[in-house]
Amino acid sequence: MADLAQSDSATLEQQPDSKEPIVVVDNVSIIFDVKPVLQNVSFTVQRGETRIILGPAGGGKSVLLKLINGLLKPDTGSIRVFGEDVSTMRETELFKLRSRIGMVFQESALFDSISVGDNVSYRLHEDHLPEEETHARVVEALRFVELENTIEKFPSELSGGMRRRVSIARAIITNPDLILYDSPTGGLDPITSTTIIDLVIKQRDVTHTTSLVITHRIQDAYLLARSRFNTETGKVEQIPNNGIDDSTKFLVLNEGKVVFDGTTEELVHSTDPWLKEYLS
Ligand SMILES: Nc1ncnc2c1ncn2[C@@H]1O[C@H](COP(=O)(O)OP(=O)(O)OP(=O)(O)O)[C@@H](O)[C@H]1O
Ligand SMILES: [Mg+2]
Repeated sequence: MADLAQSDSATLEQQPDSKEPIVVVDNVSIIFDVKPVLQNVSFTVQRGETRIILGPAGGGKSVLLKLINGLLKPDTGSIRVFGEDVSTMRETELFKLRSRIGMVFQESALFDSISVGDNVSYRLHEDHLPEEETHARVVEALRFVELENTIEKFPSELSGGMRRRVSIARAIITNPDLILYDSPTGGLDPITSTTIIDLVIKQRDVTHTTSLVITHRIQDAYLLARSRFNTETGKVEQIPNNGIDDSTKFLVLNEGKVVFDGTTEELVHSTDPWLKEYLS
């Protein structure tokens, strides 16, 4: 009987060793007013994969992430996350789904009136953890992004790069099964961008969490594909012998359509004229 009662949540909480993909976007289209923003978009993200989403501004990248965490509904097509159809979920199911997803928004989206520590911990409140445990988790998440000394500060006292790191700490504090990074380096200088990409690499290589990473910067994308986190030195380094990370794949969107879906190797060897021009 207990099994029956739990069967609903058991399907939502896909088994950890399941071979089922984490995200399946199938023939999705969405129109705003009269403008088709995504047109027949299909792709799959496997467990443990880091999927880089590249493409010109306005191509529908952010809309795609909002569809995946159920903030928007497609006009046609379906989106499955952890094996469940997001486009038909009710609010309560969406709430449960989002508790398993860490989201880093395009503009950090921190609450200015509360401290860094409270910004990072707020998603834990619904878990009703003892205060000491919440505090320990906040310190751990901030330590991961090397900002544990900012716990008492307010977002306005931090630089743009630091705010972005706080929003990464907030996304990972729940140990999510999927992380959605929307342009985590947008608006940052190249050196600060590299420190953010290093964190994405560290998260990828330490926890192997399935991730989608939007970026405009092709350098960031290649850095992600060609680097690894060395647990002995605690630093990110280039993969030797021009190696590439096998878990990192690409999706290129242009004007709402998928123009590329494949590995780093396939991307750099693509003969598609538009893609070659875009990547050059
Ligand atoms: N809620 C909305 N209502 C109407 N139009 C929208 C909405 N959200 C997005 N759009 C439109 O959809 C298109 C794609 O937007 P989106 O934000 O996904 O682009 P993007 O690829 O993330 O761009 P950028 O690289 O600048 O972040 C744009 O033309 C945008 O104006
Ligand atoms: Mg965007």
